[in-house]
Amino acid sequence: MMGHFATGVTVITTMDRSGSPFGLTANAFTSLSLDPPLVLVCIDKGVQCYPYFEESGLFAVNLLSENQEELSRRFATKGIEKFSGIQWRRGKQGVALLDGAIGHIECRIVNRYDGGDHTIYVGEVAHSSASGDRPLIFFKGKYHRLREGNPGRSG
Ligand SMILES: Cc1cc2nc3c(=O)[nH]c(=O)nc-3n(C[C@H](O)[C@H](O)[C@H](O)COP(=O)(O)O)c2cc1C
Repeated sequence: MMGHFATGVTVITTMDRSGSPFGLTANAFTSLSLDPPLVLVCIDKGVQCYPYFEESGLFAVNLLSENQEELSRRFATKGIEKFSGIQWRRGKQGVALLDGAIGHIECRIVNRYDGGDHTIYVGEVAHSSASGDRPLIFFKGKYHRLREGNPGRSG
């Protein structure tokens, strides 16, 4: 049933104390507040990078483009070296920003809430940037692209 809600796809990145990058694919990402600027992400307590959210107090949201399905699959695969052979750089807070993403949102964790087998992390946006590319869409367990030539209607 939850799969009937169409979302974009993000890779949430964080780092350990030594600065090594970690990350996972996530669609449980929401814009929360404009003033102050807050976002939230829901992180499974069982993922490899889970401890590093608290360790660094930081995360970054990489909004994936329609050309990054492979990257989404990669960051949703357990037990692999996720950052080897991909293009990334450090943001202003040191957390990894993935090349080719349509947006980067660098956050400092300001709150956390228990959410069953997940933790809800609220991040205050410290820096953000966006490109004009098109998003990757996830719907009913599959990846999609926005249809060409469909700008939508208003009014
Ligand atoms: C489209 C998609 C969305 C996902 N959304 C989330 C999410 O919001 N939160 C989460 O904790 N895991 C989410 N996952 C699962 C993680 O990406 C997956 O468990 C990943 O392998 C965790 O990596 P790790 O344990 O190696 O760190 C999602 C996976 C996919 C494919």
